[in-house]
Amino acid sequence: MNRSIQAAGALRGEVQIPGDKSISHRAVMFGALADGVTQASHFLMSADCLSTISCFEKMGIRVDVDREKDTVTVHGKGLHGLSRPDELLYTGNSGTTTRLISGILAGQSFDSILSGDASICRRPMNRVIVPLTRMGARIVSEKENGCCPLHISGGNLHGIEYDSPVASAQVKSCVLLAGLYADGLTCVTEPALSRDHTERMLAGFGASIDSQKTESGWKASILPHPVLSGRQIVVPGDISSAAYFIAAALIVPGSEVLIRNVGINPTRAGILKVVRDMGGRLELLNESSQGGEPVADLLVQSSSLHGTVIRGEMIPTLIDELPVCAVLAAFAEGCTVIRDAAELKVKESDRIQAMTQALSSMGCDITATEDGMIIEGGRTLHGAEIDSFSDHRIAMSLAVAGLNAEGTTQILNAECVDISYPQFFEDLHTLFS
Ligand code: S3P
Repeated sequence: MNRSIQAAGALRGEVQIPGDKSISHRAVMFGALADGVTQASHFLMSADCLSTISCFEKMGIRVDVDREKDTVTVHGKGLHGLSRPDELLYTGNSGTTTRLISGILAGQSFDSILSGDASICRRPMNRVIVPLTRMGARIVSEKENGCCPLHISGGNLHGIEYDSPVASAQVKSCVLLAGLYADGLTCVTEPALSRDHTERMLAGFGASIDSQKTESGWKASILPHPVLSGRQIVVPGDISSAAYFIAAALIVPGSEVLIRNVGINPTRAGILKVVRDMGGRLELLNESSQGGEPVADLLVQSSSLHGTVIRGEMIPTLIDELPVCAVLAAFAEGCTVIRDAAELKVKESDRIQAMTQALSSMGCDITATEDGMIIEGGRTLHGAEIDSFSDHRIAMSLAVAGLNAEGTTQILNAECVDISYPQFFEDLHTLFS
């Protein structure tokens, strides 16, 4: 399905952002490993989270899905309650499902096979194979290139101290989840702090988990064999989804948009800093806490933006928002530099290449670098036919760019928004005056 976007008049009104993808995945996974029932409300009913549910159903976990109420009820069977799946565990397009589940599977006494769509089968899995193998699991990549399909034989795991070369919450969470099944303490040190939803939520379920800054980075540690107890979780709105509305309101003249109930966990909220650094008008209202995660409403008004530098420890706090940051940069005066973000190349698509190609075809002065992009902002953009590379974040970022471009922007394969935000285009339309 292709989508046409026209230049919009001022965007006005309120939007309720769907539940956080990272937190929704974890609610199902940890709920499955807990004793008793876990109920997650404001759950994200998107393709990625449904992939997670389907994998756990194949391992004998009952999950009741109420789409009308956006609620899932997970009937947990405890840490050792999963059963051997009769078929391959299919993770679709979801890196989070694939990498986090690998850690859980490494601790099981049964064998399993894990695979996903064409994009998942290109994404690097050595980053989880290496630590899990060190812990004692046997993981074989069918194609011998460290990618899916993966054959996982779990078993008796040892606690390790792992120094992760990348700041990745998926790697960190994978190792911590395997650590639930180890024979001693498991620690993961990452070079910069990635999102900490696993640490927060697993502690809420009853795990003994600790996180601290050390000389070599950020270290998270977990003790094995806790008793996890099912609980109620209210999933905050996803700041990664809110980012498209933040950007749209900033760049379309005369806009004022209130974005309700957005998770602002500091390990995720780098976009808020970037917006302020660029001169954007954004206010946090009604700050509170929801199930161990900070939330707020965001009031955003159209603004004159200027260029900025996005790099270093900030990168993991807005890794998924960098494509839409490139859009903001295209409409800002002056130069924006994004660096230290080579991870963008191994996401659902190569996001450096995808954004550079798309924004160039709209008339933007943008250059790809080895670890980011350089954008000379301030040119008038024009509509173009644009490949989303079937990457949800590219499709939504370019839809935002199209709102302030001359003429029509045609986004190819725009149905990929189903991965994280199935009603994205409908919600965007409610703001048109
Ligand atoms: C996620 C972590 C991030 C992010 C992804 C979701 C998670 O990946 O890009 O969309 O839920 O843990 P990395 O941790 O590999 O950077």
